[in-house]
Amino acid sequence: MRHLLSAADLDRTQITEIFDLAEEMSLVQGRPVKKLPALRGRTVVNLFFEDSTRTRSSFEIAGKWLSADVINISAKGSSVSKGESLRDTVLTVAAMGVDALVIRHHASGAPWQASHWIDAHVLNAGDGTHEHPTQALLDGFTIRRHLRRSAPDLVDFEGKTVAIVGDITHSRVARSNVLLLSTLGAQVTLVAPPTLLPPGVDSWPVLACTDLDEVLPHADIVMMLRVQRERMSGGYFPTPREYTIGYGLTRPRLEAMKSGAAICHPGPMNRGLEISADAADAANSLILDQVAAGVSVRMSVLYELLGGAE
Ligand code: NCD
Repeated sequence: MRHLLSAADLDRTQITEIFDLAEEMSLVQGRPVKKLPALRGRTVVNLFFEDSTRTRSSFEIAGKWLSADVINISAKGSSVSKGESLRDTVLTVAAMGVDALVIRHHASGAPWQASHWIDAHVLNAGDGTHEHPTQALLDGFTIRRHLRRSAPDLVDFEGKTVAIVGDITHSRVARSNVLLLSTLGAQVTLVAPPTLLPPGVDSWPVLACTDLDEVLPHADIVMMLRVQRERMSGGYFPTPREYTIGYGLTRPRLEAMKSGAAICHPGPMNRGLEISADAADAANSLILDQVAAGVSVRMSVLYELLGGAE
């Protein structure tokens, strides 16, 4: 694997390899000295043109725990705010001799473009409404761990249902998860108001439904999505209150979930809108496990790209 641009770049064997290595990497998290020498002498640049808490810091921690040198550049405070083009910024950073470029950009396809301009490995950390492959990997890894608690020998997600609920239209997390979870054999069911189900969803490998209460009792995993108001030009739903009534994971809906089912959310959450505090903090919420998994999975991916054979 040279770049990680889309969850479609990965087959079931590769995903399983990344998960298995992430399990090993997660052992570092519990140690007093969190350092492996694997990527000593390698340089990773995080180039973030959009805001981020989890993704940027977990890529940074992952690189540092593998002993890579990690540099963070964000659009605010860089020459981007002086009008420099994406291509010039990417070429400038690459000219310094970096080994991997982790890019988040508001334009779908920006990391793919960058991978054609430079020799360094490119990792997509979220591009517009297109994809966020490491988020899908960390979600899949968290789900596998959860399912293995009751079925230790589980290898894939055949026979399991994952409901992805909310703002599908604007969600790169949903697009990458549809690809990754269906590659692993899960039945993915998208649940959203008709206005937030993207056109063309009929050709995706999913079921689509507009009634959350119909889906909830059957889902093994309920993945709530943030309502991405910064990507909306208005008019997708009447009021926040009505959205919550139809599509929020409220306290009564928690009771309607299948026994043993778990809750995911990629963060950041709008508490009280798509997810209630009761659900976010419930015993079956995996939300902080997802954050922890973000570091292990990104260590695994950086090692796959930069370590080993090279
Ligand atoms: C997501 C993103 O930025 O795509 N967050 C994340 O990376 N954890 C989802 C979101 O912003 O809603």
